[in-house]
Amino acid sequence: MQTLSLFLNFLIIVLAIKFSDAFTRNDFPDDFLFGAASSAYQWEGGVDEGGRTPSVWDTFSHSNSIGNGDIACDGYHKYKEDVKLMAEMGLEAFRFSISWTRLMPNGRGPINPKGLWFYKNFIKELRNHGIEPHVTIYHYDLPQTLEDEYGGWLNRKVIEDFTAFADVCFREFGDDVKLWTTINEATIFAIASYSDGFAPPGHCSPSKFINCSTGNSSTEPYIAGHNMLLAHASASKLYKLKYKSKQRGSIGLSIYAFGLSPYTNSTNDEIATQRAQDFLFGWMLKPLVFGDYPDVMKRILGPRLPIFSKEESKLVKGSSDFIGIIHYMSVYITNLTPNPSLLSTRKDFYTDMGVDMIYIGNFSLFEWEADPWGLEGVLEYIKQSYNNPPIYILENGKQMNHGSTLQDTSRVEYMQGYIGAVLNAIKNGSDTRGYFVWSMIDLYELLSGYKYSYGMYYVNFSDPGLKRSPKLSASWYTGFLNGTIDVASKDIIKLQSNISGSSSM
Ligand SMILES: *[C@@H]1O[C@H](CO)[C@@H](O)[C@H](O)[C@H]1NC(C)=O
Ligand SMILES: *[C@@H]1O[C@H](CO)[C@@H](O)[C@H](O)[C@H]1NC(C)=O
Ligand SMILES: *[C@@H]1O[C@H](CO)[C@@H](O)[C@H](O)[C@H]1NC(C)=O
Ligand SMILES: *[C@@H]1O[C@H](CO)[C@@H](O)[C@H](O)[C@H]1NC(C)=O
Ligand SMILES: *[C@@H]1O[C@H](CO)[C@@H](O)[C@H](O)[C@H]1NC(C)=O
Ligand SMILES: *[C@@H]1O[C@H](CO)[C@@H](O)[C@H](O)[C@H]1NC(C)=O
Ligand SMILES: *[C@@H]1O[C@H](CO)[C@@H](O)[C@H](O)[C@H]1NC(C)=O
Ligand SMILES: *[C@@H]1O[C@H](CO)[C@@H](O)[C@H](O)[C@H]1NC(C)=O
Repeated sequence: MQTLSLFLNFLIIVLAIKFSDAFTRNDFPDDFLFGAASSAYQWEGGVDEGGRTPSVWDTFSHSNSIGNGDIACDGYHKYKEDVKLMAEMGLEAFRFSISWTRLMPNGRGPINPKGLWFYKNFIKELRNHGIEPHVTIYHYDLPQTLEDEYGGWLNRKVIEDFTAFADVCFREFGDDVKLWTTINEATIFAIASYSDGFAPPGHCSPSKFINCSTGNSSTEPYIAGHNMLLAHASASKLYKLKYKSKQRGSIGLSIYAFGLSPYTNSTNDEIATQRAQDFLFGWMLKPLVFGDYPDVMKRILGPRLPIFSKEESKLVKGSSDFIGIIHYMSVYITNLTPNPSLLSTRKDFYTDMGVDMIYIGNFSLFEWEADPWGLEGVLEYIKQSYNNPPIYILENGKQMNHGSTLQDTSRVEYMQGYIGAVLNAIKNGSDTRGYFVWSMIDLYELLSGYKYSYGMYYVNFSDPGLKRSPKLSASWYTGFLNGTIDVASKDIIKLQSNISGSSSM
């Protein structure tokens, strides 16, 4: 899911998209994985079926008027149909998440046989069609019972419960699943949920723009982030001790990564950009690779930043076999210049980071510009600063108005640009091993419901049968993956005329 952190002090800039040189699937390594993604709450529906109980996401989506995932794409019933579409599309891999409360309705303890059966069948279906599953263990959907019982991610008890949930996933699905992401976009998850208050459980300090029922934006994001790192590391250790020698999979954490570049060439903006890299990437990457938080965060946050004990530091360091990257857009960074009329007065993650983020594109329409160099920059930065770890791009995609057209040419251009950026990074030594389009089909989106979507398949949400229809992007991806399409705009035009002749919405 794309989670936008709505920083309120922004300017708007429009960039012209430039295209990469021609390339094909065959320019990538054979074992590179091209796939597409989804998550449980956004795709499955069936929220009251088969013994599933509510997660914090159900509670949150029912408390606003944006829409909810009660039915979503009905993947819970339509998974066979969707796997067939994936196979026709030529997907090499599919990324999805396990609903914690479908598998363990009480958050801990007994396993729900119907939930187990659903995921086993789904994974078998993928395997039978030659599609590699990439499983996200946790995608924002904490059992509501654990939130109520002890405050979820703010309490260290979550580490034990998360590890026990992961244990069930490894034991039950690990013979067929070789790629595990513990926690989805942990960085922005902590920020959106505990600093902004935009995502469940919706905590924040009061401000001019939003009042949450509870929270503290200057402390909670760091506490939740700390517990996420420890929970990830604990699950990873368990995997390595108990399963890895037999199952031979790998396990990683994923972070949200804006493309970052200084707004001007002033020294102040360059320093601000380094600080933003440390807050947005280093916050999680430095502990995972080097065992501790970035110095600049320790200095600015003081006692608000939790401390790793020696043992915890050892546990976290080296716990991620790969880094998962969620990337959608770039921002320019400039040193924070408080604007009293706009800026919230509260202390939060962004005021701690001390930068203004300048979005590229029309933010009011949520139509940010494609900036493939931003992703190239992220991959290059991680290569150079964090010992070139293996990377999977776990989400990248283009949001458009839902149902506006099947001819999503700008989405195809976006995908071409970004896949080209990944190729450039690989050519320059980045160990990037996979790329997943967000999303396989139109989904329920946390911040926009059904208004905007990212799917390569259109879903008619007003149709009782939730009919799926391929967009231009689906045909383009198929052609790219089967090697018949070279990345050049004339191929898009040919596809475009084919789709307008053959498909109706
Ligand atoms: C947040 O916590 C800090 C540190 O404990 C405290 O100084 C501050 O008053 C709290 N802010 C809110 C809004 O509760
Ligand atoms: C939040 O609460 C504060 C203090 O009660 C108030 O000044 C502010 O206007 C509220 N903000 C919103 C968005 O309601
Ligand atoms: C920034 O760029 C301008 C215009 O290209 C140049 O004149 C100036 O010397 C540069 N400043 C720094 C600090 O590099
Ligand atoms: C952004 O979208 C708004 C709303 O439709 C429109 O008024 C504005 O002109 C657009 N700005 C740019 C830079 O395209
Ligand atoms: C390519 O990698 C080298 C060595 O890490 C680095 O110095 C250079 O800046 C990179 N080039 C680009 C375009 O990122
Ligand atoms: C969606 O489905 C409804 C109900 O079946 C139908 O009336 C409508 O035309 C469909 N919309 C599109 C864009 O296909
Ligand atoms: C390759 O993809 C193109 C474009 O979607 C499609 O027309 C063609 O049938 C596919 N070829 C094979 C061999 O799958
Ligand atoms: C368009 O359709 C024609 C006829 O069905 C097919 O030969 C051609 O390969 C298609 N073009 C693309 C780019 O898929």
